[in-house]
Amino acid sequence: MRIGIIGPGALGCLFAARLYLTVNEQDQILLIDHRAQRAAELNKQGILYESETGTERCPIVVSSSPESVGRLDALLSCVKSHTLEQSLQFAAPLLSPSTLLLFLQNGIGHLKYGEQKRLPAVIAYATSSEGATCLAPGHILHAGKGHTTLGFLSPGDRGEDEQLGKLCTTLQNANLDSSVSGDIRTRLWAKLFVNVGINALTAIYNRTNGQLLTSCAARSRIKTLVREAEKVALALRIPIEEDPVTATLRVCKKTGRNISSMLQDIRNLRATEIDAINGEISRLGRETGIATPYNDEAIAQVKKLEDRYLVSRSDTNEN
Ligand code: PAF
Repeated sequence: MRIGIIGPGALGCLFAARLYLTVNEQDQILLIDHRAQRAAELNKQGILYESETGTERCPIVVSSSPESVGRLDALLSCVKSHTLEQSLQFAAPLLSPSTLLLFLQNGIGHLKYGEQKRLPAVIAYATSSEGATCLAPGHILHAGKGHTTLGFLSPGDRGEDEQLGKLCTTLQNANLDSSVSGDIRTRLWAKLFVNVGINALTAIYNRTNGQLLTSCAARSRIKTLVREAEKVALALRIPIEEDPVTATLRVCKKTGRNISSMLQDIRNLRATEIDAINGEISRLGRETGIATPYNDEAIAQVKKLEDRYLVSRSDTNEN
């Protein structure tokens, strides 16, 4: 199998390194980066994969020229949601109608690609709770083992199911706990509730996930943000399997020491995923006639932080 991973951020490097360390000789793992200079540096340095057992150097080929890579069997998209459109144009030479394109973004802004079926690829989605922290470019810490759930928005045919099953097995063999779900939309929404309740507030209050629980104001805002998202989900008839506030508070506690991806973005002067997370609740709220004042307020506050800290929006699309 030829597997490409586009976006050498924390999750992209984590998947690339785990796959590189475990696949058969006939398989090929490649990283794709739109920034030529960074790709050259990563090729020199290798991907440094740090875990509790030590640090391993993985000399993975990093290409900034998709034309020379050619078609892949699977492409894992690990770019940030706000760079997705641009990265899909860049990645076009890697795709074919039989390429499995797996989206791993936070939020639900990217569901449109699976719904519209315009891309020449077999489109699948995944949500992952693997804990990866970027210590430096191409140097990641596998901070906590998680689970990755993969699936199609609508049932695939037999060949597509086999493709997804094969990728899932490859991830499992790479020691990335994974499974295929028949209802990935529900799983993506379940993760969305958690991100809606945690990410923006960690950025606004400059706190770790766990520290949100020790502030009455933040704790109460978690609840109001998630309840609004729940109302929108119910209006859209999205199945909800567990009370989303309970689930969010649990994740907050379990990942207490985590610096959320949004707080990391703000601290590193990068654009955040606010539009794909709380922004989608606000947008779908307008579509379904549900007021979302708490999400609207959080969005405005995060955008203010972005405006204050972003040196240049156009030059900070790190993944
Ligand atoms: O975006 C993140 O950081 C994570 O999805 C989560 C669950 C909030 C944990 O930090």
